[in-house]
Amino acid sequence: MKTPTIITNPDKYKKGWIGGLPETPCGFGSKFAQTRIQRDWIPKMVAKYAITSIADIGAGDLNWASRTAFGCDYTPYDLIPRARGVRKFNLLIDELPAADCLMVLWVINHFPVTAAKIAMEKLLNGKSRYLIMTWDSRMWDFTDVQPVEREVLRCSRDTDFEIRLVEL
Ligand SMILES: C[S@@+](CC[C@H](N)C(=O)[O-])C[C@H]1O[C@@H](n2cnc3c(N)ncnc32)[C@H](O)[C@@H]1O
Repeated sequence: MKTPTIITNPDKYKKGWIGGLPETPCGFGSKFAQTRIQRDWIPKMVAKYAITSIADIGAGDLNWASRTAFGCDYTPYDLIPRARGVRKFNLLIDELPAADCLMVLWVINHFPVTAAKIAMEKLLNGKSRYLIMTWDSRMWDFTDVQPVEREVLRCSRDTDFEIRLVEL
């Protein structure tokens, strides 16, 4: 199997995305105003499923997460730590952190297919109880695992975007 570029050249991801500038280098979906639904929904899921801790993988610059009361322990990880307190971590290489719930928002959709497959397989076979992930209708069918909860984030002309809670 060809080694995904994200492993051989992680520097490529340092510059970030332009869609959320100047507020955030993590793209349009990471702007504070754009995250209203998930800021409300994630704490509801934490309460409903008695989630005790979240490991946020690919947490970015914490633009919205640092202003969100998740209602449980929260630890951010990223390939490129972009804010204080974010632990350096590569989803494709490192052992998954121990947490009740893994959270991976707007990360896998940026991966090439080979890397996305590695990441999904790893997340779905992790020791955590739950996975919170973003999903969009352009993603490949192997990411279409049945969630126990879902919420529509936005719909554009040809794509629906959701946040999903998957039981592992
Ligand atoms: C589009 S940003 C999303 C940030 C955040 N999840 C949010 O919703 O605001 C994607 C983040 O994933 C990180 N990332 C990319 N590849 C990664 C990997 N292999 N392991 C961990 N983080 C990764 C990037 O550095 C970037 O900060």
